[in-house]
Amino acid sequence: MAHYLIFLGSTRTSTPPAPARLSERVAKACLQLLNAQRDTTAEIIDPLSLDLSGPFKPHFAYSASTVPDDLDALAMKIDQADGYVMVSPEYNHAMSPALSHLLNHFGASLFAFKPSAIVTYSMGQWGGTRAAVNMRSFLSELGCLPVSAMTHIPKAHEALDSDGQFRAEQERWEGYFGRTLAQLIWWANAAKAHKAKQDPISLSPAINQTPSQRDAP
Ligand SMILES: Cc1cc2nc3c(=O)[nH]c(=O)nc-3n(C[C@H](O)[C@H](O)[C@H](O)COP(=O)(O)O)c2cc1C
Repeated sequence: MAHYLIFLGSTRTSTPPAPARLSERVAKACLQLLNAQRDTTAEIIDPLSLDLSGPFKPHFAYSASTVPDDLDALAMKIDQADGYVMVSPEYNHAMSPALSHLLNHFGASLFAFKPSAIVTYSMGQWGGTRAAVNMRSFLSELGCLPVSAMTHIPKAHEALDSDGQFRAEQERWEGYFGRTLAQLIWWANAAKAHKAKQDPISLSPAINQTPSQRDAP
């Protein structure tokens, strides 16, 4: 059994543009499609469920006794998950600041040696493709390597209803999503099986003392 976290990339409660948080529809669609797979479970991680206001302080900057419970619980979920789906709108041709802010709270070692899938959307015709391009480098740096197939949903407010159901051409949408999710699941299963044989962290230890641990001599 492999477990996936679907990161919902919006905290936008304002309208216009209406409807707010199209991300909910896209994340629900991903949840339904992943849960329909064999030996697969998934859950949505909603940045609105965490209080991320105030000065930025990542999970790893707290001492064990002071780390907020919800931040710590999410760190454990990230650590235990087998793969990730990153759902992002396009804001000014870039990935969602709500999503990058949430992810920046956690050290790369929690995500490392696991795959991720990029799913973007927009109300316009490009489906968040420009955001997706910079998500590749962001997610690679985080250690959860993005699979090559990506899913982009133009006019997501028309394509999906509020329950995350496709309003038309369901089979084609499922096939389109299916390619990305199949790659995610394949890599997640492969990484999980190989991890049982060889601990990757022992070969490539976490960088958790100083950024200069990355430096060339
Ligand atoms: C600040 C801001 C910037 C945006 N920039 C883009 C953009 O560059 N490209 C695009 O296609 N849509 C853009 N949009 C439209 C969003 O893709 C659309 O509002 C989408 O519904 C946002 O996702 P959300 O509803 O889950 O927050 C932008 C919206 C906002 C609020």
